[in-house]
Amino acid sequence: MQRIDPALQRKLRTFRLGKEPSELVLTDMNNGPKGLLDLASNDYLGLSRHPEIIKAAQEAIISEGIGAGGSRLITGSRPIHHELESELGSWLNRDRVLLFPSGFQANLAAVMSLADRNTLVFADRLIHNSLLVGIKASGAKLKRFAHNDLAHFKELLKAHSTQSRKTSPLVITESLFSMEGTTPPVQEIADICQKHQARLFVDEAHALGVLGEKGKGLCYGLDSPIEMISGTFGKAFGGGGAFLACNTQTAEDLLQNCGAFKYTTALAPPLAAAALAALRLIKANHHWGVDLQSRGQVLRSRIEEAGWPRPPGIGPILSVLIGPNQAALDLQQQLEDVGLLCVAIRPPTVPNGTARLRLVIHKGLPPEALNTLINTLAK
Ligand SMILES: Cc1ncc(COP(=O)(O)O)c(C=O)c1O
Repeated sequence: MQRIDPALQRKLRTFRLGKEPSELVLTDMNNGPKGLLDLASNDYLGLSRHPEIIKAAQEAIISEGIGAGGSRLITGSRPIHHELESELGSWLNRDRVLLFPSGFQANLAAVMSLADRNTLVFADRLIHNSLLVGIKASGAKLKRFAHNDLAHFKELLKAHSTQSRKTSPLVITESLFSMEGTTPPVQEIADICQKHQARLFVDEAHALGVLGEKGKGLCYGLDSPIEMISGTFGKAFGGGGAFLACNTQTAEDLLQNCGAFKYTTALAPPLAAAALAALRLIKANHHWGVDLQSRGQVLRSRIEEAGWPRPPGIGPILSVLIGPNQAALDLQQQLEDVGLLCVAIRPPTVPNGTARLRLVIHKGLPPEALNTLINTLAK
């Protein structure tokens, strides 16, 4: 077996929900349970344990069963799927929404349906692994531009625009990068795409529910067209499952031709019901996202005042660059020792030499947790 550098080795750790709104209890066989405040998960709004969402899921289990028992095109479609697709479509002002069991699968499906071996794909260097897997599976030719670097993006696009291809180019980016906390200027990217007759796909996994007008993400309401977006219910929505949103024709193509949609068991009804309940809560409380963003900005300033580089971005993900892998792990341990759960993100998830602490602000985090964080970082 290949020897792995101990500072790069991954370990599975198990957590249970604690009593406090943002508490996760690390259940370690050797040391016993340890309660930690969650500065690590993507459950930004704490919806995974919201009573209305739990109730919606419980009711769906009773009425529809645990699983759908079939794919959407055989016996798996339930009224709750249609209700969720239609309500998401109206919320995001998209003709059609199709549900998937996970964001990874939705991204794979999206790229495989929008690109083939004749397509030139231009993608941000730091896009999620699921999108890279989709590009590889599609057989498309990939050109990567430096992270959020529009000058480089335009340069690549211009350099290749003279090549005649059977399909128009596809551009892929994310609206909130999960390991950087950064956001590209989506409107500008969409304008450039329109000018060069390129189609644009944006992964909105981390922005939906938190960023943009009323938490509708950063692709909502833009002037230039965006061919398709993906969203997941595994992050701000607090559940599981995902969706693609696009125009009627593109959705019909997916439904007719996409194996990742046709040949998989439909999203479990309790998860669809949970996602619909989460959507309704987000609609009714769109200040939640705004509050998180303000808390994020305050924390960015405090981290800077504590002597660290200011974490970039506007959302709830704050990435503190450390560099060496072991140093990032040591800081993670120091924070755990004072009761805070923040995870060290290391290569290959991020480029070599850029290990970091990924801090995530959650709605239920008590102010004392952030004071403890700053005091520890200041040492
Ligand atoms: C940017 C991005 N897209 C897609 C996914 C996949 O979503 P899911 O967890 O629903 O499979 C993730 C989650 O890791 C992600 O961070």
